[in-house]
Amino acid sequence: MTKRPIIIDTDPGIDDAVALAIALFSDELEVRLITTVAGNVSLDKVTMNALRLLKFFGKDVPVAMGAARPLIKEPIDASDIHGSSGMDGYEFEEPTKDLVLSENAVNAMYRVLMDSKEPVTLVPIGPLTNIALLVKLYPEVKDKIAEIVLMGGSTTRGNAGVMAEFNIYADPEAAKIVFHSGVPLVMVGLDVGWKALVYPEDSARLKDMNETGRMLYQLFQKYRGGGLKTGLKMYDSCAIAYLLQPGMFEAVETFVDVEVAGTLTAGCTVVDLKNYLGRPSNAKVCVDIDPQQFKQWFLDSLRKCN
Ligand code: RIB
Ligand code: CA
Repeated sequence: MTKRPIIIDTDPGIDDAVALAIALFSDELEVRLITTVAGNVSLDKVTMNALRLLKFFGKDVPVAMGAARPLIKEPIDASDIHGSSGMDGYEFEEPTKDLVLSENAVNAMYRVLMDSKEPVTLVPIGPLTNIALLVKLYPEVKDKIAEIVLMGGSTTRGNAGVMAEFNIYADPEAAKIVFHSGVPLVMVGLDVGWKALVYPEDSARLKDMNETGRMLYQLFQKYRGGGLKTGLKMYDSCAIAYLLQPGMFEAVETFVDVEVAGTLTAGCTVVDLKNYLGRPSNAKVCVDIDPQQFKQWFLDSLRKCN
């Protein structure tokens, strides 16, 4: 079976770590490049976390560093959720930087896309700064992108702002550019992330599963993306789940825009489910997920890891 080529743009991040584990050990995906973007914590920290994970997993995927800050707004972070390192809870062996390319993320993505015989899927699971720069600097690359499957947004309320999900809130202008890029796009937002939950009994199963499970179990002790009783939210894994098992999702084609000017609502993904705006669809929006199917897929996928 030919593997689906993907590029993951990420800001590890404890939930990013889970998504990367599942993607890297999937026999259906070929991770051709990992690009990093400032988000959960600084660019240097998320890049080191990506390298730590690749060393831990024993995977030699090239890494390219991207934007250290949003296009316009002041940087924010989510160190309150992931810890000051971005992946508190586990003492990783310190990696070398051999996997880090001299190219920046945008030029590396451009090269990988243009050199590919087949279109490549972009999987952003952090703020969209790098993706926005890519489509603005190199519009000719759009035909080489199969689709963008992004973790971000919400049809309802936010988790970083009243109406804003973190990845969009961190760089609303970048998100607006990406949603208006014309590239086929799947929005995997909070509507499903809030139902993709890991409870203490699930974490306990990870602990005895394999080295990756043991590592994630320790990270989950520090992860504040949810709680013991309410469940830990596996936001970024939902984007990978959509690639591998889209049937567990309910999704609708609709028009989405991003609020960038609202003093109270900047970063809100305005999902026009009732077509008030009369605009053509520009996204497939995941509006629901089967939590049991997700849980089973989540555990089965992590069983494939080292
Ligand atoms: O809102 C959840 C998103 O913000 C996830 O990508 C998480 O890693 C944080 O970046
Ligand atoms: Ca993330």
